[in-house]
Amino acid sequence: MTSPILVTGGTGTLGRLVVPLLGNAGRSVRVLSRHNHESEDDGVEYVTCDLLGDAGIEAAVDGVETVLHLAGGPKGDDEATRNLARAASRAGVRHLVYISVIGTGRVPLGWFNSKLGAEQAVADSGVPWTTLRAAQFHELVLTAVEKMAKLPVVPVPGGLRFQPVDSREVAARLVELTLARPAGLVPDLAGPKVYGMADLAHGYLQARGKRRLMMPVRMPGKAGRAYRAGDNLTLEGAAVGKRTWEDFLAERVSRQVGRRAS
Ligand SMILES: NC(=O)c1ccc[n+]([C@@H]2O[C@H](COP(=O)([O-])OP(=O)(O)OC[C@H]3O[C@@H](n4cnc5c(N)ncnc54)[C@H](OP(=O)(O)O)[C@@H]3O)[C@@H](O)[C@H]2O)c1
Repeated sequence: MTSPILVTGGTGTLGRLVVPLLGNAGRSVRVLSRHNHESEDDGVEYVTCDLLGDAGIEAAVDGVETVLHLAGGPKGDDEATRNLARAASRAGVRHLVYISVIGTGRVPLGWFNSKLGAEQAVADSGVPWTTLRAAQFHELVLTAVEKMAKLPVVPVPGGLRFQPVDSREVAARLVELTLARPAGLVPDLAGPKVYGMADLAHGYLQARGKRRLMMPVRMPGKAGRAYRAGDNLTLEGAAVGKRTWEDFLAERVSRQVGRRAS
């Protein structure tokens, strides 16, 4: 019998897509979550652990050869990853796979700095590793534009561009990487098109049949300069997904409108 693959963050947006793909590939999966979950008949085992503490990490990595580390939050990914990497190394894990974000090491914002610390913890762990940097998922962009569209006038930071990517494509790529040999830092994965913030907001408003005034604003400071310079993008050398923001909106937002209407 092969050892289970430990998936941290297996309950999140990306993790919920990855876990069934690993199951379809014939692998048993152990999901790490901060909350208690009942194991169901789908063959997924759950372990409870907060990666920002120590309790439960050793049991989570016990008997595991491959760890797919997707757990993340607004703060503390560096510390959580150091804790996991240390435990993985002690347990003799043979492959540690990590999801990071494009712009790590270039955009001077706390979240990107913490992803950089997490990448370093993976690379310094002594465990053979693979790290994929992905662009923002469509779901994250949707959450942002939904919030913006609640305002009577939508503030649109000028010069900010994004290459949103389909989370299912990120999930499929991660499964491929997890089942392959450790590869270090692999080419970034971005969406097929680059959009300004106004294009993203406009696409959403159009899909929802809403109208709003948009007001250009300037994002201040070093982070604003980095975004305007495109430091959050990979314009050359990235693997590029197929599904666009418009495809996602057609599926997700029209479905919501259809449900509300029925
Ligand atoms: N969303 C994006 O646009 C994007 C882009 C590039 C990279 N990423 C990276 O991709 C990963 C997954 O993103 P996502 O959007 O799927 O995130 P998400 O939906 O917010 O899910 C976060 C996951 O992390 C787990 N988690 C958070 N803090 C934890 C802790 N201290 N200990 C253990 N588990 C913890 C949560 O598990 P429980 O709540 O069950 O404990 C949950 O499963 C993250 O590392 C993120 O930085 C995201």
